[in-house]
Amino acid sequence: MTTTERPDTLRRILDHSSRADPYPLYAELRRTPVALQEDGSYVISTYRELTGILHDPRLSSDVRNLARPMAAVEGRATPSFINLDPPEHDRLRRLAMRHFGPPHTPGLVSGMEPGLTATVSGLIDGFADEQRIDIVDEFAYPFPVTVICRLLGVPREDEPRFHVWVNAIIESIDYDPRTDPQEKLDNGVQATKDLREYLGGLLEVRHGHPGDDLLTRLANDDGPDGRMTDEEIISTANLLLIAGHETTVNLIANGMLTLLRHPEVLRRLRAEPGLVVPLVEELLRYEPPVQIIPWRAAYSDITVGDTVIPKGSQIMLMLASGSRDPDRFEDPDRFAPDRQDNQHLGFGSGVHLCFGGPLARLETQIALTGLVRRLERPGLVADPPPYRPSPVLRGPLHLHVEQG
Ligand code: HEM
Repeated sequence: MTTTERPDTLRRILDHSSRADPYPLYAELRRTPVALQEDGSYVISTYRELTGILHDPRLSSDVRNLARPMAAVEGRATPSFINLDPPEHDRLRRLAMRHFGPPHTPGLVSGMEPGLTATVSGLIDGFADEQRIDIVDEFAYPFPVTVICRLLGVPREDEPRFHVWVNAIIESIDYDPRTDPQEKLDNGVQATKDLREYLGGLLEVRHGHPGDDLLTRLANDDGPDGRMTDEEIISTANLLLIAGHETTVNLIANGMLTLLRHPEVLRRLRAEPGLVVPLVEELLRYEPPVQIIPWRAAYSDITVGDTVIPKGSQIMLMLASGSRDPDRFEDPDRFAPDRQDNQHLGFGSGVHLCFGGPLARLETQIALTGLVRRLERPGLVADPPPYRPSPVLRGPLHLHVEQG
């Protein structure tokens, strides 16, 4: 394995014009599994190297371990556990997991099924007789947002305010060369402050008036790991809100798009509802909402193949590329819902493996089942649809479908 600079391939992947189909560029990138960039960062794109890195304790998720701090996250408040390393990471994750359920208590998520089905039915009823539906605005966005707000105990009517804050935060960590990075950073820092203040206000109320929600439970926990501080609760709630907003939306929209492009699979799903389980796994491999983990920091010099990555380097993990690696998956560019041995990287791997995976899976299974039942002869209005700016959290901005 050799390390050569491939700045151009990465630049093209990050460019908005590649958003509809970045996969041929990932194939190009995989020719150099560990690629040094002009700015000194390393890009990892093959399955074997990615899984090795994701399980390597010498890799840090804490941006403070980067030799060259990242402007986009400087000045942020207390990091949430996605950006911390063991042992702090493990303590906070355990404290949150106790109440959230999966994977240790899967009953909590399966217990949510009737509520999720009712929410999906309500949204689908809202389509009424409209000829043209935007699957993103009318369905894929409001569904997971309603679910995560309900879980945390955030009043649904406050959601439009979040929408603005969450968008500003996501944009500030994004790569969009068309916008001013300093302005995005300022907006992101302000939005983080506003969102934290808002969550702090909700928490204050929960201390006095407990409700049946995650914020209340986190505030009153007295388990073996003690209690989270208010700052830690706010960071955790912040993380769950952002994760609950920006990922499942894209999985549902990418899923519907993929089904419309594969009408034979759509017909099969109608006839064979159980197919939805492996189908959602295949979507997480084939069109994953989290395409890239933008950074890990090397705690010490690390050798990957014959490349030495120096301590403090920024390492970018191309998860979506790993899940299309032909050395790991047979015929990787084929959407195959019956695929066996589908250990995709859609939820990451290792200590930071997605905490919301069981919920995201269930939400997407119920959402796609509801949509294919309701839309009898759906037709795509534009292919490819317009995409959101982010190369990291990738998905359609709108997905207009005509009802036949
Ligand atoms: C972590 C993907 C939905 C909460 C992650 C990671 C990925 C991911 C790739 C690993 C990040 C890393 O290693 O740095 C997804 C996808 C989703 C989804 C594709 C939807 C389809 C959710 C939902 C929630 C959630 C619904 C919460 C309710 C989290 C949390 C972490 C995480 C808290 C951090 C875990 C840790 O650091 O230990 N997710 N996620 N995710 N996800 Fe998700």
